[in-house]
Amino acid sequence: NGIVGLAAVLQRRADTLPGDIRPFLDKIEDQGRHMASLIDSLLAYADNAPGTQTFEQVDLGSVARSALTLLETDIQNSRTQISLEEMPVVAGDPAQLERVFGNLVQNAIKYKGEADPVIAITSAELGDQVRIDIRDNGMGVPDNLRERIFNPLDRGNATTQSGHGLGLSIIRRIVETHHGRIWCQPAPDGGTVFSFTLPRYVEP
Ligand SMILES: Nc1ncnc2c1ncn2[C@@H]1O[C@H](COP(=O)(O)OP(=O)(O)OP(=O)(O)O)[C@@H](O)[C@H]1O
Ligand SMILES: [Mg+2]
Repeated sequence: NGIVGLAAVLQRRADTLPGDIRPFLDKIEDQGRHMASLIDSLLAYADNAPGTQTFEQVDLGSVARSALTLLETDIQNSRTQISLEEMPVVAGDPAQLERVFGNLVQNAIKYKGEADPVIAITSAELGDQVRIDIRDNGMGVPDNLRERIFNPLDRGNATTQSGHGLGLSIIRRIVETHHGRIWCQPAPDGGTVFSFTLPRYVEP
């Protein structure tokens, strides 16, 4: 971030610098920003290591709503429509589960198709577990990448969108330390459904 700031300062003085230096300053600022966000992602990866979470009674509805609030600007700028069905109560770590919703919704917006993004968040009860489905109308995930994209640093076919390929690996680990599973399937009308399971909360 210091790098980004310094590049910005130099840029403001660009008129006193040789004329051909500006493009390089832009590059420094860009790369600095990229590095700062990579560091954030790596810290998140370390932060969500197994054994660091607390399990408590979590209302997934409020967790999902607060994840959506954090993405409010992205949602508005991309004209994304989101529907959030009633959500169950589970046993888990609220901050980590907020990250799961946040990353999946962020991906659904980032990997959109031709149309404006439409995202539906629904849930199903499966005995002592619940399943959450996040369906988008985006570009879809090809069959051969469906498992690979959950590996660290794997960005599938993504070439134009920026990212580090860490989001899904972080949330897979979160879901697995909650004794759940996460996977994706093609949505019936194009796009993708990401699903994950979590343990239902039971009164102690
Ligand atoms: N909803 C989606 N629709 C289509 N492709 C997706 C979707 N979500 C993820 N992908 C693909 O899976 C890859 C991995 O996603 P992941 O979230 O792990 O990394 P990323 O978005 O590239 O980077 P970041 O670390 O910033 O999240 C993406 O690069 C993209 O190719
Ligand atoms: Mg991502």
